[in-house]
Amino acid sequence: MKAAVVSSFGSAPRYEEFPSPAAAADDEMIIDVIAAGLHPRVRSQADGSHYTSTGELPLVPGIDGVGRGRDGLLRYFILPDTRMGTMAEQTVIDARRSIVLPAGSDPIAVAAAMNPAMSSWVALRQRVHFEAGQNVLVLGATGSAGQMAVQVAKLFGAGQIIAAGRTAGRLAGLPALGATGTVLLDGDAGGAARRLGQSASDADVVIDYLWGQPAAAAMAAVVTDRADRGKPLTWIQIGSVAGATAPIPSAALRAARLQIVGSGQGSVSSREILAELPALAREITAGTFHVDARPTPLADVEQVWADAARTAQRIVLTPRI
Ligand SMILES: NC(=O)c1ccc[n+]([C@@H]2O[C@H](COP(=O)([O-])OP(=O)(O)OC[C@H]3O[C@@H](n4cnc5c(N)ncnc54)[C@H](OP(=O)(O)O)[C@@H]3O)[C@@H](O)[C@H]2O)c1
Repeated sequence: MKAAVVSSFGSAPRYEEFPSPAAAADDEMIIDVIAAGLHPRVRSQADGSHYTSTGELPLVPGIDGVGRGRDGLLRYFILPDTRMGTMAEQTVIDARRSIVLPAGSDPIAVAAAMNPAMSSWVALRQRVHFEAGQNVLVLGATGSAGQMAVQVAKLFGAGQIIAAGRTAGRLAGLPALGATGTVLLDGDAGGAARRLGQSASDADVVIDYLWGQPAAAAMAAVVTDRADRGKPLTWIQIGSVAGATAPIPSAALRAARLQIVGSGQGSVSSREILAELPALAREITAGTFHVDARPTPLADVEQVWADAARTAQRIVLTPRI
C-alpha cells in the first residue's frame, strides 16, 4: 500500500510503498483511512523530537484520523504511540479507542478539528469545574487549537473570552468566533503585560498554549492587576509553543488564589478523553465550529509538510482522493 514514510528524522515523509498492516489482537481492526490531520504532535513524531520517540525508523506518522473498517462504519480513531500511523491507505486501530461518527459527518472537518478542539474541550470538562458565565483567557489564540478554544469557551457559556496572540491579522478574526476582547502580545513585554492586565485580570480560567516567558509574564500581569485576589484562578497548561519551561514568579502563587494544572494525555486518562469525543464530534458535524481545513492528497505529503508550520489552516491528508 502507499503511505507517508519517514526514513530519516531530518527529512519530510515521502509517499512510498509500505507493508500493509495486519490486525493481531481481538479489538484490533484494519481501517481504510479517509483523512488524517497534520497536527503539531504529528510533526514532532515525524522528526523524532516527541518525548515518546523510540528513534526507530522507518515510521508512518499520524496520531488520529477518520476511516472505515470492514463493518462499513465511519469512525474517528486515536492511535497509541506506534510506527504504523494514520497517514497511509490503511492502518490498524484498537476499536475501543475509536468512536462511530454521526450520520452526515464530514471526514475532513472531523480529522482537522478533533485534535485541536479536544485540547480545550477536555480541559474545561475534566481539569476545572467550569461554569457558564466564568471568564476565560486564551493565551496563544491564533493557532488551530487557540481558535477552537475561543469557540469551545463560547459553546460552554463563558462570560468574557479574551483571546491573546502575537499576530494582529489572525487575532482580528477571533471576535467573529466568539472572543469578547483581544490582546496583542507583540512589541515590548511591558506593554503586552499592561494590556493583558487591563483586559484579563478578571479571568477565572486561562487556557495556555504558549508557556515559556510569555506565560510567566502573563501570569504576573493577570495576578498583579486582579481586583479580588481571593477569587480562584485556574491556569490550564496545554501547549508549549513559546517554551518547554517557564520562569513562574513565586509571588504569583502566593499573592493570588492561583492554581496551575495541565491537560493532556496522562493528566486526563484515555477513558476520560474518549468519553468526551462523541459530544465533540456531534458539534463538529452540526457545524458549531468554524473549521479551517486544507485537504491535500497523501501523494503530496512531502511538498506540503513544510507548509504545516506556516499556515493557519489545518492540513488534512487524504489517502483515497
Ligand atoms: N494537551 C493537549 O491535549 C493538546 C492537544 C492539541 C494541541 N496541543 C498543543 O497545543 C499547541 C498548539 O497547537 P495547535 O494545533 O494550535 O498548533 P498550530 O495550529 O500550529 O498553532 C500554533 C500557534 O502558536 C503560535 N505561536 C508560536 N510561537 C509563539 C510565540 N512565541 N508566542 C505566541 N504565539 C506563538 C503561532 O501563532 P501565530 O499564528 O500568531 O504565528 C501559531 O498560530 C501545540 O503545542 C500542541 O502540541 C495540546
